[in-house]
Amino acid sequence: MTFLLYGAYGYTGRLIAQEAVERGHRPILAGRDAAQLNDMGRSLDLPVRVVSLQEESRLRSVFDEVAAVLHCAGPFVRTAPPMVRACLETGTHYLDLTGEIEVFRRMADRHEEAASAGVMLLPGIGFDVVPSDCLARHVATQVPSATTLEVALFADGDVSQGTLKTLVEQMGQGGWVRREGRLREVPPGWTSRTVDFGDRDRRVVSIPEGSVVTTGRSTDVPNVTAYLALPRAVRRVLRGSRHVQRLLAWRPLKRLLKQFVELRPDGPSTEDRRQGRTVVWASARRGTEGSVSARLHGPEAYTFTQRTAVNGIERVIDGTAPPGYQTPSTAFGADFVLDVSGAERTPVE
Ligand SMILES: NC(=O)c1ccc[n+]([C@@H]2O[C@H](COP(=O)([O-])OP(=O)(O)OC[C@H]3O[C@@H](n4cnc5c(N)ncnc54)[C@H](OP(=O)(O)O)[C@@H]3O)[C@@H](O)[C@H]2O)c1
Repeated sequence: MTFLLYGAYGYTGRLIAQEAVERGHRPILAGRDAAQLNDMGRSLDLPVRVVSLQEESRLRSVFDEVAAVLHCAGPFVRTAPPMVRACLETGTHYLDLTGEIEVFRRMADRHEEAASAGVMLLPGIGFDVVPSDCLARHVATQVPSATTLEVALFADGDVSQGTLKTLVEQMGQGGWVRREGRLREVPPGWTSRTVDFGDRDRRVVSIPEGSVVTTGRSTDVPNVTAYLALPRAVRRVLRGSRHVQRLLAWRPLKRLLKQFVELRPDGPSTEDRRQGRTVVWASARRGTEGSVSARLHGPEAYTFTQRTAVNGIERVIDGTAPPGYQTPSTAFGADFVLDVSGAERTPVE
């Protein structure tokens, strides 16, 4: 059985299709634009299905041919609901590339429904959130009754148009952390600290990264904060943005910014991806007692995503797809991230 790659002709969808073909898979390419899909199908010699997310009955019939769908068409806050509905109705496993906290929350809420349909819902099978969720679980399991978990990400290199549009879509929303076991909304850039990423210390600022939600399932730790390393000027803008939240949520402004985004390259060049790298750090502690920390050095974020997505799909095709809402580490274990070629986990003294 194969899988459906939806949003196949987007920047990240193409990277994933190439990786899948190189590993001997024959995914069905899907999306709403016939011309782009047919071109891609011809060049990779793969079957294509033209279907929009509004055509739910046609989407369900396309699912008859596959064991799983790998959804790459974001922003997922808009595109995930019809796809998830079709997956639950047809018993098709669902994986996506979201990094949007709202999407993780909604998927978590559908756990029982998915479990009784025998369907795995696994959002975030890309750089967001495979390394953060897996590393967080790795350190948390070494600290019995841990009370605090912190995760920090560093990624160099550029971002794709799709990622920028998704960030624009999220503008005007606050940050999120987990406190006493519950998600709590906080202002953007709420807190910051310094993290040793191995090569040097970097200043990081809190962000609503998906592991704030996923660790609610993959660990028992009640207090979780996720951070991103950002240059000083960007940290200032982020903190300043809390005073103009309503303006940033204004739809005409978002439309305008998306038009500017379309003037940029579709994503990092092959050379940028070859040179780029990522570091994820995670630390768990119990009260004020000693902590257990680790770092994960890995390839550039889109290369990371290309590899984790295909690794995840391969696990599902091989028969590992626990029903219900899952995180990368609850579905495949905390060491799943180590299957990524170029990823190396090291303990931090
Ligand atoms: N988790 C991670 O680490 C990670 C990594 C990479 C990407 N992502 C996310 O993945 C998403 C895609 O990124 P990208 O770089 O591939 O972006 P992209 O190049 O802009 O591609 C987006 C794709 O989604 C399709 N799409 C968008 N809205 C759609 C809709 N309503 N119905 C059907 N298709 C729709 C687009 O098709 P049309 O051209 O027909 O609109 C296109 O094929 C973004 O949300 C990004 O944030 C996450």
